[in-house]
Amino acid sequence: MAENIGKEFMHKTVHACLSQPGEKSGVPQPPLEYPIPAAARRIALPEPPFDSIPAVDLFAAIQERRSVRQYSQQALTLDELSWLLWVTQGVQQITDRPATLRPVPSAGARHALETYLLVNRVEGLTAGLYRYAALENELIEVSLSAEVIQGIALACRSSQKICQESALTFIWVAVAERMTWRYSERGYRFLHLDAGHVCQNLYLAAEAVGCGVCAIGGYNDIEINSLLELDGDELFVIYLATVGKR
Ligand SMILES: Cc1cc2nc3c(=O)[nH]c(=O)nc-3n(C[C@H](O)[C@H](O)[C@H](O)COP(=O)(O)O)c2cc1C
Repeated sequence: MAENIGKEFMHKTVHACLSQPGEKSGVPQPPLEYPIPAAARRIALPEPPFDSIPAVDLFAAIQERRSVRQYSQQALTLDELSWLLWVTQGVQQITDRPATLRPVPSAGARHALETYLLVNRVEGLTAGLYRYAALENELIEVSLSAEVIQGIALACRSSQKICQESALTFIWVAVAERMTWRYSERGYRFLHLDAGHVCQNLYLAAEAVGCGVCAIGGYNDIEINSLLELDGDELFVIYLATVGKR
C-alpha cells in the first residue's frame, strides 16, 4: 500500500478514549445518525426495490466473489443505489434502547458508521460527494466541487484510477463516539470490524445488480479527512469501496 498515515489517527483516537466509557459516566448517548445540517440539500431515495432485485444464489456469490477493478460506462440507477445502501447500512428497525438494527451486524448495535458516496455515474445524480442519511433514506449533498471529487481519487493513491472509473465509491466514515461511548478503547477495534462486515455485504449484494466491487484501504488519511471536512479523531474515513457495472 502507498504511504499510510493512519498511525497518527489511531494513537490519537485510542488515547482520547482510554478513560471510563461515556455510558458508564452518565454521558448521554450520541445520536443514532450524524446530524443533517439545516441548510443541506436533501434528495429523497426510492425505497429499495426488494421485489425486482434478481435473486442471487448466496453460495455462488461467495464462491465467485472477486475484487473488480474494471467497469463498464453504464450508470447505476437510483433504485440500484438505494438497494446497495440498504444492504450496507439500511435501517430496518429502531429499538427501544434506542439503537438501530440493520442488515449488517455491529458491536452492541452501535452502528457507528456513516456512508459517504463519491458519485460518478448514477442516473439522476450530479457527480459529486453525498452522504447517506440512513434513518430518512435520503442523500445529503455534501459537495459538487471538481476539486473535492478529484482530490478524493488522488488521496486513494494507487487506487486513484478505479475511483475515477467506477460508477461510485462508498466511503465509510467512523463516528468514534457512537462506539467508544459504550466500549471505550475497545470500541476502536469494533469500528474496524464493523466496517469489514459492511464492505462484505456490498461485495456480495452487488452481484445482484450486475456490479463489481473493490475494497480500498490504501489512502492518505489526512488528505481524505480534510476533503470530507472530518477532524480525523472523532470522525475519520475508515474504509472505501469502488462499485461499477461489470
Ligand atoms: C482491508 C482491505 C484493503 C484493501 N485495499 C485495497 C486497495 O487499497 N486497493 C485495491 O486495489 N485493492 C484493495 N483491496 C482488495 C484486495 O487487494 C483483494 O481483496 C485481494 O487482492 C484478494 O483478491 P480478491 O478480493 O479478488 O479475492 C483491499 C482489501 C481489503 C480486505
